[in-house]
Amino acid sequence: MDDGSFDQLKDALKLTPDNPALLALVVGAHLDREEADEALRLLDGFGGDIGAHAELARVAARTHLSVGDAEAALACLTGDTPEIQLLRAKALLALERRREGYEAYQKAVEANPTLEDMALATSLRAKVVEFASHNRTGPKLKVISNDDTDVADLDRLVEPRQAVIDFDAIGGLHDVKRTIHKKIILPYQKPGLFQRFKKRAGGGILLYGPPGCGKTLLARATAGECKAEFFNISIADVLDMYIGESERKLHALFERARESAPAVLFFDEVEALGGKRQNMRDNTSSKLVSQFLSEMDGFAQGNNNVLILAATNVPWAVDAAFRRPGRFDRVLFVPPPDQEARKAILGTLLAERPSNEDIDVALLAKKTSGFSGADLRELVETAVDEAIDMSIELETEQAISNEHLRAALGDVKPTTLEWLTTARNYARYANEGGQYNDVLDFLRRHGKG
Ligand SMILES: Nc1ncnc2c1ncn2[C@@H]1O[C@H](COP(=O)(O)OP(=O)(O)O)[C@@H](O)[C@H]1O
Ligand SMILES: [Mg+2]
Repeated sequence: MDDGSFDQLKDALKLTPDNPALLALVVGAHLDREEADEALRLLDGFGGDIGAHAELARVAARTHLSVGDAEAALACLTGDTPEIQLLRAKALLALERRREGYEAYQKAVEANPTLEDMALATSLRAKVVEFASHNRTGPKLKVISNDDTDVADLDRLVEPRQAVIDFDAIGGLHDVKRTIHKKIILPYQKPGLFQRFKKRAGGGILLYGPPGCGKTLLARATAGECKAEFFNISIADVLDMYIGESERKLHALFERARESAPAVLFFDEVEALGGKRQNMRDNTSSKLVSQFLSEMDGFAQGNNNVLILAATNVPWAVDAAFRRPGRFDRVLFVPPPDQEARKAILGTLLAERPSNEDIDVALLAKKTSGFSGADLRELVETAVDEAIDMSIELETEQAISNEHLRAALGDVKPTTLEWLTTARNYARYANEGGQYNDVLDFLRRHGKG
């Protein structure tokens, strides 16, 4: 709702303060603007019975929930429309009344399958486990085991936990984000709805494109959007020189993800699974590939809330067996950022650092054709070095200026062109099944075909 119509609605409400439908509209708009206090004030002033009007009851409950007052939210939720049941489930969860909450959730989804919300369902079904405190003075338990990769080992394989991010943290890439939302996040959040339409979910997604253009970032953001645990696996760490060891680690990783569901299991630089043959005994790597594929096939059958993503800079080095149905049957090209995306990325990078207001981000975006997101970061960091040097020299903070950026432009070179040249050759001469059509489209659109 734009500001103009919002103001009109507010004026109308002043004339008829006891119109429940109008009040619901205005309170909802305040909520969308994160003005919960104002919404509460209006609700307090209402003379009638909030529960008697379904829409008003809904926004009132949302308001109370947003300020953490689940009791008050529950008190408004007297109806039994699916939307009300869903809010009731949320309020009951906040009150730790999970079993009742799950019942309300099930009623809501039964009546309206589009309300399915996996993150909510998982929280409602979660068991609360309390561990007895450790006996610090007693003898240490000594366990000798050779049957499984131990916990510490797994923790090492999974990269350190990073801040949760969502799609807003990624500049540009609108098409890729839209596809991921439609093909990955929705089926993941609403598996019941997809089942009703006999639409197959599951299988993995392979992201490919030039280095530094946001594949890893997208995988992290996808996990963030799904509210799932994110496991970022580096293949190099899985590889082990001892026969059978790599396969065992891989199996343990899939198991760990299953236990932590909902989870996103992300294999970065997945081509390494089949590669690096020279470092290994004969056949070891192909065994690892088949272990990986059979783990994936096992996952494709069960509806187990684990999403498998992989990324590579060298899609042509990835075993063709990976692309069979039920495996990585969806392959997405993550292109270098276009001018608008570069502007967005540069804007974010500069906004988080002291910088002059007169910096012409649009011009900078124009001058950085062929730069990856990582190149743009490098550019800003080079300018930052300069600004820090000057600040120290002048003994007062010098913000990043056009000068600094212009100098940095002379030092930092774009890195995506080389990748695109190689990719163009594969796309022209080895484009089996049209797998590189997206690259060809991209090149054509940018006059490099
Ligand atoms: N679209 C983007 N928006 C914001 N930052 C980006 C984007 N693409 C790349 N970056 C920056 O470049 C870095 C490298 O990106 P990354 O996702 O690791 O690339 P890839 O996995 O494709 O090699 C990121 O940490 C981020 O700082
Ligand atoms: Mg990466």
